[in-house]
Amino acid sequence: MKIAISTGGGDAPGLNAVIRAAVVAALQRGWEPWGIREGFDGLLFPERFHGEGLVPLTRERVRGITHLGGTIIGTTNRGNPMKYPTKKADGTVVELDRTGEVVRGLRAHGFDALISIGGDGSLTIANHLAKQGVRVIGVPKTIDNDLEGTVITFGFDTAVSFATECVDRLHSTAAAHRRVMVVEVMGRYAGWIALNTGISSTVDAILMPEIPYDLKKVADKILEREKAGHTFSIVVVAEGAKPMGGDLTVLSKEAGRAERLGGVGEKVGAELQELTGKETRVVVLGHLLRGGTPTTFDRLIALRFGAAAIRALADGRSGIMVALDPPNVRYVPLEEATKRMKSVPLDCDSMKTARDLGICFGD
Ligand code: F6P
Repeated sequence: MKIAISTGGGDAPGLNAVIRAAVVAALQRGWEPWGIREGFDGLLFPERFHGEGLVPLTRERVRGITHLGGTIIGTTNRGNPMKYPTKKADGTVVELDRTGEVVRGLRAHGFDALISIGGDGSLTIANHLAKQGVRVIGVPKTIDNDLEGTVITFGFDTAVSFATECVDRLHSTAAAHRRVMVVEVMGRYAGWIALNTGISSTVDAILMPEIPYDLKKVADKILEREKAGHTFSIVVVAEGAKPMGGDLTVLSKEAGRAERLGGVGEKVGAELQELTGKETRVVVLGHLLRGGTPTTFDRLIALRFGAAAIRALADGRSGIMVALDPPNVRYVPLEEATKRMKSVPLDCDSMKTARDLGICFGD
């Protein structure tokens, strides 16, 4: 078996652990694993990689990478072959479907199967490729944890652990200056990172996409705390949070890629300062959540996902995604995993816990 491995979309801690496990498990079976550089770009545009758009993944190549952030084969969130941004002669950019070229490219290089490691975007592409006859196994990656079908994605635990450590550090400086600290975290259209970070780091308010906020409610909470003698407050804001009746804060929108969110923290900070009369500072954690060493939890599920992807291929399966269903790993159809985004259910235990702990959601 000659297999191709691709990592697509934003990187997440644990990608290298998946690659290592898949490669070692494939080599043990006498298979030949290769990496496609930067999503599918290595296959579509070998010239960009000086002819080395495909790299043989030898035992030596994957040695000592389990704990490393990033991905040894690179990734891109501009390379969606279903909507490839292509410049026309008049300068305008159009989105072209180039999946046919990916299918032909995989066949031309003699690949029998593909392991696609990615989030909703990459797994939607994987599903599309499966429908065109490619043998594909998906592996769920994203710090956002917004994928259906799996209890958790790898990368999420590392992001939440680091964000929690950051907010822990903000408590003392907020207290020293009697300030309100607003911390913006990633997560796209789901509030998983904000919710788990906010509960773990015992913040006073969490604003997330699932609950449009009224900042007057948050300001009341801060002023109540003030009356009770607590002179500082901490608010975690998901980048996808929006005010009641208002819109998302979008940084930019380009052809061929998802819109970039960001900036809501600054808006919330300015308004809270106005409403409470308290000095407010804003911290944006951004890409810090995606970098560095994966936690033990993420490493372990990443290694389990990589090995499980190879077992699925060995069993002759295709069109499925590896998923965590504790205590086991199971397989779900890619179709099911990519049907809709997994938001935070408002009646879940974590939400109830947060409300029981007196955390305000601005509602
Ligand atoms: O999906 C992962 C993620 O980090 C989101 O949380 C965030 O909105 C987005 O990617 C940022 O993408 P980029 O790296 O293109 O800025």
